[in-house]
Amino acid sequence: MPGCSVNHQETNSDVENKVKNLLASMSLEEKIGQMTQIDVAVIAAPEELNAANPIDQAKLEDAVLNHHIGSILNTPYTPHNKAQTVETWRKMLQSVQAVAAKSRLKIPVLYGIDAIHGATYIKDSTLFPQAINMAATFNPELSVKEGEITARELRTAGLQWNFSPVMDIGRQPLWPRLWETYGEDVHLATVLGTSFIEGQQGDDFSAPDKVLTCLKHYVGYSYPLNGRDRTPAWIGERTLREYFLPTFEAGVKAGSPTIMVNSGEVDGIPGHANYHYLTTILRNEMGFKGFTVSDWEDIKRLYTRDKLAANEKEAVKIAVMAGIDMSMVPLDFSFYDLLLELVKSGEVPLARIDEAVSRILLVKFEAGLFNPNPQVLPTKENFATTEALDTNLQAARESIVLAKNANHILPLKKESSILVTGPTANLLNVMNGGWTITWQGDDESLHPQDKLTVLEAIQKKATGKVTYVGGDSFDKAIDIEKAVAEAKNHDTIVLCLGEKPYTETVGNIDSLNLDQAQINLANALIATGKPVILITLGGRPRIITSIAEQVPGVILGFLPGMEGGLAIADILFGDYNPDGKLPITYPRTTNGITPYDYKPIESYEQNTYHPLYAFGHGLSYTTFQTSELRVEKDKINSNEAINITVTVKNTGSLKGKETVLLYVNDVAASVTRPNKQLKGFKKIELNPDQAKNISFTLTPNDLSFIGVDLKRVVESGDFKVIVGNETVNFSIVK
Ligand code: BGC
Repeated sequence: MPGCSVNHQETNSDVENKVKNLLASMSLEEKIGQMTQIDVAVIAAPEELNAANPIDQAKLEDAVLNHHIGSILNTPYTPHNKAQTVETWRKMLQSVQAVAAKSRLKIPVLYGIDAIHGATYIKDSTLFPQAINMAATFNPELSVKEGEITARELRTAGLQWNFSPVMDIGRQPLWPRLWETYGEDVHLATVLGTSFIEGQQGDDFSAPDKVLTCLKHYVGYSYPLNGRDRTPAWIGERTLREYFLPTFEAGVKAGSPTIMVNSGEVDGIPGHANYHYLTTILRNEMGFKGFTVSDWEDIKRLYTRDKLAANEKEAVKIAVMAGIDMSMVPLDFSFYDLLLELVKSGEVPLARIDEAVSRILLVKFEAGLFNPNPQVLPTKENFATTEALDTNLQAARESIVLAKNANHILPLKKESSILVTGPTANLLNVMNGGWTITWQGDDESLHPQDKLTVLEAIQKKATGKVTYVGGDSFDKAIDIEKAVAEAKNHDTIVLCLGEKPYTETVGNIDSLNLDQAQINLANALIATGKPVILITLGGRPRIITSIAEQVPGVILGFLPGMEGGLAIADILFGDYNPDGKLPITYPRTTNGITPYDYKPIESYEQNTYHPLYAFGHGLSYTTFQTSELRVEKDKINSNEAINITVTVKNTGSLKGKETVLLYVNDVAASVTRPNKQLKGFKKIELNPDQAKNISFTLTPNDLSFIGVDLKRVVESGDFKVIVGNETVNFSIVK
């Protein structure tokens, strides 16, 4: 498999031979079982039994021995999917593999889990900022570390397959999964996503502290026209190839061995029926050698929802023939039964089954799953360590964006008196979002009580009076009169607004506007004339324009994870000099959803790019200046790279980190080109007055685009390189 080395001393052909031999000894039933993935609910005992091991042995044996299933997913118990302790996970996984070891061919079961911001479903794990925040750090090293730590925590519990990272790019702010993405830019998402893969898999994903990644959701899922989850995306092939495929291509090159399929539809074809995407592009063009897994129930939905198939059996045929190798069925064995019938009747050729099963077995061998004595990492050194906590706190700090700081209102003095209010002030769940301990992440009572909310972190650090007016659940109305009365007795108001947690379709909304209760609270507090610092938390850029324009300080927190409260208080009081930058455009109005890399037509005549805060925006308590932007040459050939240098200086009085963003504009081309596109970034730390020269290399690929004939092309002509306030030019000659 490209990009991932084969474990142990084995060569690729050794493993391929093992796959071949094993496949040759398998019955049709055993093969189809390998392609079947069920939810743990199918084999779980009822929750009321509250067993130390939630598995029902008889149901497990039926799944593994009678249906030969190849994979299981999720944490018990439906519908809440609650995090389990490390010990419970170990017992569950041992039971599963013990039954697999009793099966005729002893093929191990691959257990998959969503560990999207840390080991979500293991109790007391390290829960990092969500992906949108990791992108705001513009710090790939932190993404590598998040990957490494999460892999170790998963392996401590015996888990080895993570349904992460999301490589969809986030260009539709209404979409309730925006926060699961690394933002709107292709380059940023590519770098952060592949760094995460590097951390999770290392050079060898069979190592005892590594796990397999799963790129999702291939492809075009993130761009629903109406913003609701699992609704149609209208993406033409050029746009798909230019914006949506490159992140996945990079993930494949980085060695991710599995890919989960788009749950929605693009241009009228559901992701699970799209032969062109799943086979022609993914296999023939990208050379992906691993296996594809469907998303939840999505093969059935080709019939029940999309009406693409006349019945469930036809849906199975369409999906398998399009290129789905494993079905997340997941609540019954229908896929197994129907596919068996389809192969027996000749409607699905055996060759297609052999192909899918070979891919699955290849990954299982490469992951070292056949090792009879898998090493389970000891808890103390690997799970929720203090090093992991420190990394998490640093990630949270670097992920928070100081968007406005009029008259240096921030940092606040610790001795000032502060009124803290707003629905997101005293909850952990609003900082963690979905996929936190439970699927929806909304059960505050299950969140670790030793972690600090924004209010608690302020109380911990402040030396002056701190008063809180609020309800401890998101929807509990806040007494506005009381808040206004209290405001009069304090120097500053910290107003925490935003969204409650949600995951997937549950988070669909009709408008980016904040609800009226939050707007009323904000307006009443602004009217007191006391300075208001607005802190927002939540997965989407909800419209805050009128509030942000009237208050002196704005901090955009998004979903900074379990250390988010502390990180926000660090920034509020100046214990940390903020350095996060926006990985998305923050819209000014509900319909102002133009990304930063807009086309010329989007800023022509009456059209403008006029967001509240632009992509890449983020203030510091110090100031930086870039200068001396230089290109190495004025002219290059279309197959040449070009070096760029720039100097960055800390011109303020505090040490701080700055991310230098390098953009390119192709001045005239045969397909309209973006106003500018990010092609490089570097984050560096500088002392006051310190300056550093940094360099970037632009490759032909960075200067290419998808041409009229849908192929990648580098065209001759002029290019602009933009860093800070400077622009330099060069041209490509034939
Ligand atoms: C989501 C996936 C997730 C899967 C398994 C689906 O509903 O779309 O992102 O990996 O469930 O939990």
